[in-house]
Amino acid sequence: MPVISESRIYNKLSYVYDGLMKSVDFNVWTRYILDIAKINATKNSSFLELAAGTCRMAVKINTVYPDLIATDFSLPMMQIDKKNSLKKVCCSMLNLPFKTKFDFIYCTFDSINYLQTKKELITLFSEIESLLDGDGVFTFDASLENNSLEFTEEQVTEDKFDGNSFKRINCYDKEKRIHTNIFYIKNADGKKYKEVHKQKIYEFETYFNLINKAGLLVKECYDGFTFSDGSPESERVQFIIGKNKV
Ligand SMILES: C[S@@+](CC[C@H](N)C(=O)[O-])C[C@H]1O[C@@H](n2cnc3c(N)ncnc32)[C@H](O)[C@@H]1O
Repeated sequence: MPVISESRIYNKLSYVYDGLMKSVDFNVWTRYILDIAKINATKNSSFLELAAGTCRMAVKINTVYPDLIATDFSLPMMQIDKKNSLKKVCCSMLNLPFKTKFDFIYCTFDSINYLQTKKELITLFSEIESLLDGDGVFTFDASLENNSLEFTEEQVTEDKFDGNSFKRINCYDKEKRIHTNIFYIKNADGKKYKEVHKQKIYEFETYFNLINKAGLLVKECYDGFTFSDGSPESERVQFIIGKNKV
């Protein structure tokens, strides 16, 4: 598929994102976040979602927790579902434009791994520290190396969604700890685009160090989708973070 133009990440991919995710069970994922919220929030809590994408989870969470704002730095992603009545703000998680505090902030599906440097991670955690209410909680998942190792040899898939087609080249550079997805997207009117997505696979301990540095506290770190302890061997871990009050 010849390339016509290189696009910013999650710009043209928005056409096919929900197709790309068809094997992901958003009900299970949402249930897990709701279970975490049940322990850490109340019905009246203020919720903020970071990197909400096409807002499929936000729509479901919003039915239980009405005070919710969904954010993402990709306007095309946030505009895919025009029917929902969510409060949405298009912004980077590294520069959150809010003056009020939140009780529950969440970020799902490897979105944290899009932050390329430890400096960016610290910036995020510092933003969270200033936006979290005293007893508030920030929960996010992070993809660890065991989730990437099967891609040390490049894998290629192709699919179609909603009149658009796409090819995905998926590979992991173990030395640089960078997981790359290259997408070639052909949209319904025949235009062709390329997006290169790079995700940094941080070491398990890095999260603990940087969270502490930003004045936050790891309350729990679960093995993904469970309430058992996570470890460096986990494929995905789920952090539950609070403010460090001492
Ligand atoms: C894998 S998608 C996950 C989307 C959504 N959470 C879901 O579960 O479908 C990653 C999302 O992160 C967003 N993203 C990446 N870096 C970001 C940043 N610095 N600030 C805000 N959003 C970001 C992308 O636009 C994209 O929507």
